Amino acid sequence: MRLSLLGIPFLILLVTLNFRVCYSRSNHSAGYEQATKQILDRATSRMRNVWGLNRKIFLQLTAKGKSPLGGQVLNAKQEVEAETYRLFYELAGNLSVVPVAELNDPLLGRRVQRMAKLQLQGLRPKDYEQAKDLLRQIHNFVSGPLVCPHEDCSAHGPLSMYPKIVNKNMHTKLYEELLINWKSWRRAINEKDVAKSTFIDYVRLLRIAATYNGHVTPSRTWYLNYDTENFQAELEAVVWEIMPLYRELHAYLRHEVQAAYPKADTKSDGAISAPIMDQILSQDWYPHQFFRTPHQGREHQLPSVHRRLEEVLVTPVKINRKAAEFFESLGLIVMSDNFYDRFSRRMNDEEGGSECKSQVYYFPPDVALRYCPKLDYKKMMQIHGTMADIQYNMYKMRLPFGLDTEPCPGFGAAIAETVILASGTPRHLQRLHILLNDSLTEEQSLNRLFRMGVHTLIAVPQYFINDKFLVDVMDGRIGVKDYNCAYWGLQDKFAGVQPPTQRHNRDFDLDFKFYRGLNPETSNTKKFLAEILGFQFYRSFCLASGQYKPGDPNFPLHNCDFYESKEAGKKMREMMQLGASRHWRDVMEIATGERKLSGRGILEYFAPLFTWLKERNKQLDIEPGWDADELCRRD
Ligand SMILES: *[C@@H]1O[C@H](CO)[C@@H](O)[C@H](O)[C@H]1NC(C)=O
Ligand SMILES: *[C@@H]1O[C@H](CO)[C@@H](O)[C@H](O)[C@H]1NC(C)=O
Ligand SMILES: *[C@@H]1O[C@H](CO)[C@@H](O)[C@H](O)[C@H]1NC(C)=O
Repeated sequence: MRLSLLGIPFLILLVTLNFRVCYSRSNHSAGYEQATKQILDRATSRMRNVWGLNRKIFLQLTAKGKSPLGGQVLNAKQEVEAETYRLFYELAGNLSVVPVAELNDPLLGRRVQRMAKLQLQGLRPKDYEQAKDLLRQIHNFVSGPLVCPHEDCSAHGPLSMYPKIVNKNMHTKLYEELLINWKSWRRAINEKDVAKSTFIDYVRLLRIAATYNGHVTPSRTWYLNYDTENFQAELEAVVWEIMPLYRELHAYLRHEVQAAYPKADTKSDGAISAPIMDQILSQDWYPHQFFRTPHQGREHQLPSVHRRLEEVLVTPVKINRKAAEFFESLGLIVMSDNFYDRFSRRMNDEEGGSECKSQVYYFPPDVALRYCPKLDYKKMMQIHGTMADIQYNMYKMRLPFGLDTEPCPGFGAAIAETVILASGTPRHLQRLHILLNDSLTEEQSLNRLFRMGVHTLIAVPQYFINDKFLVDVMDGRIGVKDYNCAYWGLQDKFAGVQPPTQRHNRDFDLDFKFYRGLNPETSNTKKFLAEILGFQFYRSFCLASGQYKPGDPNFPLHNCDFYESKEAGKKMREMMQLGASRHWRDVMEIATGERKLSGRGILEYFAPLFTWLKERNKQLDIEPGWDADELCRRD
């Protein structure tokens, strides 16, 4: 038995040895290298054409005096999409026969490795078209006007889940209303099992893509550039690591829910009803939250920065400059006048919509920006993230095509997160003359941590659950007959969330963020990673800059502003310069000294909140945790 198993590699070894006797190794790989380089050179010049199209789109959108040429831009965008697909699809085919192990140049090997395997783009043209079509339908579940909450569409016509219903919910104090909206949307999208069967079709295509990569476990393709056996287990370990903190926050929120929504039946088992949990999450940026912050009383409320922001920063252009200056202070690239004159443009007011996301365009040797014209605290922080993206692009573009990306999805967003966190600290706001004091009172500080905690700690398990559900279905660990109850099983286990009423396996209750995350561009995996790794990076930059001194109350992690730190800047630059030329663990090690995801950054950041929650819950005689009530029936 052993012998026959060993026999096969032994045979291959013999053959290779023979091969080497005839042709000297260096000679032999030189041939391969040359052929490979030729393939990649041709691909690079085709990619330049795509970048040229991107440049054209940017120029069309920002042409002076003309209103944006809607039709032309749309055509150009479709052309970019189609040509990118064709290029990557063909290239993967050509590279899949290159023997990577025979290449001496490690960078060349890395390029082949990165581009020989694909996700949806690895599908044949017909399947790929279907995948895009399914993604459009899935997008429509979230943003299409599909729901008439009271069975009556006469007043306003049907509503979309996002942004219409989400915005409506944000202002409603009636639990009944939340419940009706929760149910109506699910009923609307899953009439005749449409949502479920769309999802099943889409998963089928993901599985096909995995077979082309030779992945027996389809999730290997979903997690392609994480390049890790059983990556799901690493994500789960992080969720358990932060669970003690999550449970305290969950228990405290459950108590607060009774004050805000007395009619929401928080069952005796201690889990929180799903529409209420959605509401808690949707209110993270809402100024008049229904859920109380720990310290009441006017003097403990967070100082409003809005008016000062308008007085001090005046225009979005000035905010952009301030954000760019953050990176200059770290010793990164100084943005040129050429950038501001030619490649930084304001969006039209009506264009941004409710999200108003700034857009970054990549067409080496240039990077361009279209920014949102709004001016508020959230935008101020976000533009710091956008500037991080621009810096990253400017470093990456020096690498050969194929390595000029982040090493894994979410990596760039994690770096951006660190600057967003730093830019929102009282210390940084004081530097910008928006706050007069560089620290808040203890009570204010706790209120701030509490709001950030809700924003981060409640969202992370939800990213994880949505990701795990998809991957478990994909790999066949969840059968089609058990989708819905399996989903509620995950909600119960990892989040303490339960359905608002008795549900069945014939329902399909996934939330709108799940659908959004089916697009690899906006996957829940990526969001999860960006948060977790973001806090890990933040901790490292803060330690490097001396702005976080563990144990010193004057330098807590949550008020760390690493502005001007050349030490932090050096780490950031080194990571950015590497692009995808190394495994993401090698790159993260530069900043963190660690090679694994961990919840440590989050735990240290929220440490004062954790302490307070534990004490407060004890005072209130609230016991953290929950026991499952069986609210999903397997029929
Ligand atoms: C390969 O090796 C042979 C014999 O040593 C030599 O004549 C030839 O020029 C080499 N070719 C390359 C491409 O290096
Ligand atoms: C792939 O190889 C074929 C055949 O040699 C060639 O025609 C095509 O241009 C190549 N495409 C890419 C993107 O490498
Ligand atoms: C700044 O805040 C700290 C802590 O609350 C306080 O001790 C100090 O007096 C404040 N300084 C000013 C100038 O208000």
